[in-house]
Amino acid sequence: MKKSILSITSILFTMLVFGQSAKEVKMHQFVNGLLTKMTLEEKLGQLNLPASSDFVTGAVSSSDIAQKVKDGKVGGVFNIRSVTKIKELQQFAVNNTRLHIPLLFGMDVIHGYRTIFPIPLGMSATWDMPLIERSARIAASEASADGIQWTFSPMVDLTRDPRWGRVSEGNGEDAFLSSAIAKAMVHGYQGDDLGAPNTILSCVKHYALYGAAEGGRDYNTTDMSRVRMYNEYFPPYKAAVDAGVASVMVSFNEIDGVPASGNKWLVDDVLRKQWKFGGFVVSDYTGIPEMVNHGIGDFQTANALAMNAGVDMDMVGEGFLNTMKKSMQEGKVTLAQINKACERILIAKYELGLFEDPYRYCNESRSASEVFTSANRAEARKIAAQSFVLLKNNNVLPIAAGKTIALVGPLANAKENMTGTWSVGADNSKSVTLLKGLTDAVGNNGKVVYALGSNLEDDAEMQNRQTMFGKDITRDKRSADELIKEALAVSANADVIVAAIGEGAESSGESASKSNIDIPEAQKRLLKALVATGKPVALVLFNGRPLTLNWEAANVPAILDVWFAGSEAGDAIADALLGKVNPSGKLSMSFPQSVGQIPLYYNHKNTGRPLTGKWFSKFQSNYIDVSNEPLYPFGYGLSYTKFEYGDMQLSSKQLKGNQKLTVSVNVKNTGALSGKEVVQLYIRDVVGSITRPVQELKGFQKIELAAGESKYVSFEITPELLKFYNSNLKYDWEAGEFEIMVGSNSKDVKSVKINWVK
Ligand code: BGC
Repeated sequence: MKKSILSITSILFTMLVFGQSAKEVKMHQFVNGLLTKMTLEEKLGQLNLPASSDFVTGAVSSSDIAQKVKDGKVGGVFNIRSVTKIKELQQFAVNNTRLHIPLLFGMDVIHGYRTIFPIPLGMSATWDMPLIERSARIAASEASADGIQWTFSPMVDLTRDPRWGRVSEGNGEDAFLSSAIAKAMVHGYQGDDLGAPNTILSCVKHYALYGAAEGGRDYNTTDMSRVRMYNEYFPPYKAAVDAGVASVMVSFNEIDGVPASGNKWLVDDVLRKQWKFGGFVVSDYTGIPEMVNHGIGDFQTANALAMNAGVDMDMVGEGFLNTMKKSMQEGKVTLAQINKACERILIAKYELGLFEDPYRYCNESRSASEVFTSANRAEARKIAAQSFVLLKNNNVLPIAAGKTIALVGPLANAKENMTGTWSVGADNSKSVTLLKGLTDAVGNNGKVVYALGSNLEDDAEMQNRQTMFGKDITRDKRSADELIKEALAVSANADVIVAAIGEGAESSGESASKSNIDIPEAQKRLLKALVATGKPVALVLFNGRPLTLNWEAANVPAILDVWFAGSEAGDAIADALLGKVNPSGKLSMSFPQSVGQIPLYYNHKNTGRPLTGKWFSKFQSNYIDVSNEPLYPFGYGLSYTKFEYGDMQLSSKQLKGNQKLTVSVNVKNTGALSGKEVVQLYIRDVVGSITRPVQELKGFQKIELAAGESKYVSFEITPELLKFYNSNLKYDWEAGEFEIMVGSNSKDVKSVKINWVK
């Protein structure tokens, strides 16, 4: 009795002093109680995250991982793709360890689990936050039904260099759009209650600046000013933290000369102290021992550095496990640090409800009934069609009923390639190809004829590098000429040609940097031959990054960018080609004219010698051989209908202090079909104490208009939207002139100047 009065008093005291809820107090009491029972070795075990070593169902005890688990040396495991195996390993851990602490099971659930959505770059082209959140919700519910409790997603690295293969995993070049997506995804995965059996921990990555790798070469060095970090590259990570993301993955690259995996300023100062992140930090795959190669010290030093920086969990490196005791004895790390890291991991497990029920996510009947369901697939088909960006259309699309369509190209019948990169949980044999989707959709109402037309690449080795991990595209042994000849013969009686052309699934993603981002020569040759027939040709472009498409833009009558659209790709693309869905995607990354322009992004600075007149102008900031313009700008995307923007209306042009500015514009669908349009708001801060970008996205709304319909779209602007980090890293707005721009893409805007005083 006395004891319970005491504990009630202590709970009330903690609630009062630390502002914790009764639930939180209970959790901390449980976790701290557990910590006091743990040996140092057991604590270090919780910080260890090995990759899955596969084992035969029913034989976990003889697997490599079993001994480690038994010895209390494992906190979690990732990328096991079977609820039965996960359950078996969990049972083994709970039954065979001294303190019966359940394991955490993670996976790269990047754009869907088994039902696969478009690659993230494609998802970002939807500009549709509820839809993005829904995709993450479905991914979480499928993954959790299969035993997964933690996803290494979202990836929110700002990307301005399409040579870098990992642009496919992110949301493009803009911090405002990517921040909105970060929030939607974290909420989609985690829901409102992490303890619910269908929500999972989210992990925002790769903190930080990974997208700024020099030369677009993966794992390469980054180097940038703090002002740029805070204003441009940090906001999406911070948005995920503000949205309550449970974990953060540090990146491979260095920042200010110190690799992120051991960067105390980055993890402890910025993430934990400035942003108040309360979850746990995990390294990237062997990111900690890689600091030895970076040249920052030996294995032990690297691990001590990571611990001191505030990294809690060691992915694959095994250095926390094997060096931390020594480092502690030598005074290089403290027991308090190890305790803190362990506490954070245990808290995550507690929040998932694993201590209450270690098998909460191991429900085999859920796995059988809730994964890759027809409802989820139908949703994925709808979502995929929203990600397509119509880059050009000279009256070729949509294809009318009753036509004979020649479908040609190495990606037309390439099942394994539909899901794109990072689709660990996918069953690619179940993906819908364009050939199947289009043939089904056309049915008896026309005809689809097919030819391969070309290999993905002329060079077999180049093709291998881009089709690994089971993403094969069969190579045809015939010569390029023979393949083209067959394609032309097949197309001879067609009304329209659809060319399914572009990159292989693994041409983008991790370790898939490219110096040449043209369509591969073998396919370009085919495309030229198809265009030369004079028939209407629609290029259906598969790609995980912006490509250089100058010839295509000038010569192919229609281009529909479909990215890698996921398990339902073929059906979704058919929906768009036949006009069942009107494309409405908008680019989240500029498409350059030339690799030489990279980095190319819409929200650049003005410079002291901006190109004001026509290209080329001597002694102004431009190139001799290519203009400064992108081929397709950020925010760009056409529709089968047309939208007309009226003049902007402003509530005032003179504002003061915390007043609110309302900007509205009338948008009219002047075409014959209903369609969706993303109305975009940009602002330019004309004069600042530091130079400011020529324009920055500050709002967007996706609206749907029936043919002939018009709508007023309004944006509210407060000084909050005008804030930026100045050279002292103070976050505030500065009085002065602002240019307000509204339009259908970053280059096609109407603009009005206003004045805003303090
Ligand atoms: C990647 C991460 C990924 C991790 C685990 C690393 O190579 O950089 O994005 O989450 O592997 O698979």
